[in-house]
Amino acid sequence: MSLDIDKILSHVKHNSVVREVVHEVLFFDKVTSTNRIALEMASDGLPGGIVILAEEQSKGKGRLGRSWFSPPECNIILSILLRPCLPMREYPLFSPVTAVGVIDGIDNATGIQAGIKWPNDIMVGEKKVGGVLLESGAGGDQAVLVVGLGINANLNQTDFPDELQSSATSLREILGQEIDRTVLVIALLEGIARQVTELQTGHKTAVLQAVKARCQTLGKKIRVKTAKKVFEGWAEEIESDGVLRIRMGDQSRRRILTGEITHLRDAGIFQTKR
Ligand code: BTN
Repeated sequence: MSLDIDKILSHVKHNSVVREVVHEVLFFDKVTSTNRIALEMASDGLPGGIVILAEEQSKGKGRLGRSWFSPPECNIILSILLRPCLPMREYPLFSPVTAVGVIDGIDNATGIQAGIKWPNDIMVGEKKVGGVLLESGAGGDQAVLVVGLGINANLNQTDFPDELQSSATSLREILGQEIDRTVLVIALLEGIARQVTELQTGHKTAVLQAVKARCQTLGKKIRVKTAKKVFEGWAEEIESDGVLRIRMGDQSRRRILTGEITHLRDAGIFQTKR
């Protein structure tokens, strides 16, 4: 089923939580990448609060330089252009914070309980159903942050490429029935707007607690792959700037800013203080 744009626009207009963050929604049949469009708009000086929704991307971007797989008209592809009122050093927080909003949105629209694989993967069990890609840019007087979101909504399991078969799934596969994407977009925008507003109005501690409560990574033994190294340790804490702190085998601590995380099977001995 197609997205009902009028219904989405009407919801944005009448919902005060969403209106705090979203001022305009633009819809495209096909773009290169909604993140790219949002960054271009930002460099043209457009204000924050614009949501770009698309049915298809020709060059969808994933984290760590990967591409994002999403066939036309079956998933959620959106980006939000923000001009945050927080210092740039706090921008990384928007990744897990958006993920919390996404998880709440998925729960409200479908009843599915998802979790976060730090920093931005939306997981159901050990399978990925979506991801958040943050990009910052320039343009206008104020700094820019683009929050990109891809959710596998109605994709058939058999339609995933071979390399994603064992690690990814869709909400429809989990629920066993078609997802109403319009209802999902509305719930996602509300969930994200609520969390972004919390973060921007000084409730960082509460927002971080919400992230930790939904984070599957904490307490697990993990493998971290960065551009330079691969190492293993226990995921101990998400610090106040959103960085993941891990404890190594020799009891030293390491702060992880970014990287590819794998949850290892032999998890569970170590408990975090939460
Ligand atoms: C990830 O690698 O997990 C993040 C994926 C983010 C994909 C979304 S789809 C909408 C937005 N536009 C893009 O080009 N990428 C993000």
